[in-house]
Amino acid sequence: MAKVKTTFFCTECGNETPRWAGRCPACRAWNTLVEEPVVKRRRAGAGPAAARAASHRATGGAPPARLSEVAGAETMRWRTGLDEFDFVLGGGIVPGSLVLIGGEPGIGKSTLLLQVAARLEAAGHGTLYVSGEESAAQVRLRADRLGGGAGDVVFLGETELDRVLAAADERSPAALIVDSIQTVYAPELEGAPGNVSQVRECAARLQRYAKDSGAAVFLVGHVTKGGAVAGPKTLEHIVDTVLYFEGSGTLDHRVLRATKNRFGGVDEIGVFRMTAEGLAPVANPSALFLRERTVGVSGAAVTATIEGTRPLLVEVQALSARASYGAPQRVSTGFDRQRLALLLAVLEKRAGIAFGQLDVFLNVVGGVRLAEPAADLAVAAALASSVFDREVPGDAIFIGEVGLGGELRAVGQVERRLAEATRMGFARAYLPRRAVGAGAARGGGPGIERVPVDTVADLFREVFP
Ligand code: TYD
Ligand code: MG
Repeated sequence: MAKVKTTFFCTECGNETPRWAGRCPACRAWNTLVEEPVVKRRRAGAGPAAARAASHRATGGAPPARLSEVAGAETMRWRTGLDEFDFVLGGGIVPGSLVLIGGEPGIGKSTLLLQVAARLEAAGHGTLYVSGEESAAQVRLRADRLGGGAGDVVFLGETELDRVLAAADERSPAALIVDSIQTVYAPELEGAPGNVSQVRECAARLQRYAKDSGAAVFLVGHVTKGGAVAGPKTLEHIVDTVLYFEGSGTLDHRVLRATKNRFGGVDEIGVFRMTAEGLAPVANPSALFLRERTVGVSGAAVTATIEGTRPLLVEVQALSARASYGAPQRVSTGFDRQRLALLLAVLEKRAGIAFGQLDVFLNVVGGVRLAEPAADLAVAAALASSVFDREVPGDAIFIGEVGLGGELRAVGQVERRLAEATRMGFARAYLPRRAVGAGAARGGGPGIERVPVDTVADLFREVFP
């Protein structure tokens, strides 16, 4: 039997290399090389895909044109009415775009896209929902459960890419949904569905289909344990928009996050709740994240963070307890561990709080990740509150970056954060002095009281007299 020629692909960066190595020579990632059959390159003109591309050219592939003379189709968007979804996309679905939705199994990707398809059908935009993961009967069951016209969505159970594209060519849907990119394959390429060259090639052909037909194409992508979309990172380069659908364990809310968007901002989040009738947009995420707030308990503080363009109030919880044996533990969920270590050192050196013998646990409530330095002050307040075993005022929020000298540094978008805090009923904000604003005297002005803070030691004297 003839031996199949193989080559190696890096699952991180997609680099191809003829020999196996423990470390990718291109991106230096460890243990990411996988062996796959060599892809036979077909000459242009052979194969159904090339034939299709040729016929596209023959039937009027567009000549070069001045941008100002290009029809403004790209500025048009389809709104689904699932507000959080439209928002994360930058204001609706862009025709001709290729969108990747990544997330762990069971998080709700198929549910979300079926709801989106139902909304589009109801608005008169045709859809084609292709699934290689579930049978028509299974999707029908879900559609029955969702209601809202999900039964009108056109379904195709298929995994072979050319047949998917043929069905799409025939129906010309406004939106094509491929659930998932790891199950479709092109038989003329060697290798099983889901391997690097299959995923990459199928995504590239779907991108071409989206651009040629003007349909919006949605790809579902499974993620690996590390949180990356399985298959090469290059998949993220091929698509226009990458959305991640995240949730945390037992909680019923889900966060949709744009990590790449050619047609809108990144880091925008949309929040949904998983209900018996599918995903429901949450119009007021701050209320959701503060719902189970622990008022009257030490070790908790609220901050206002900015996610994309939106302010969001979240609670930080800290627990410090005498280390029972060995080196004290530092456990952090939703906040960078090294940043936590830095803050502990600052609090020890600049405010005289000794953490050397204490285990420290830090948790950002609701599965939110606080990536901004503006959250430092709330983390510091929660840590000190836990050590002193004294609660912080329940109507106060904490905003500010903490420097190595214990000094408070200004942060951006203070007014937007304070507006959200005011809306949620907070009465007082501890802020870097610069952020309080020139001449704005303490307590001056309507709305929230702004308390200027110079250093963490000052804050603790003020809050825990
Ligand atoms: P699903 O969309 O199948 O996830 P994915 O495609 O990301 O793997 O979502 C499956 C989960 O959602 C499943 O645990 C059941 C739950 N679910 C609801 O709670 N309510 C609903 O109305 C639906 C359709 C699903
Ligand atoms: Mg699914």
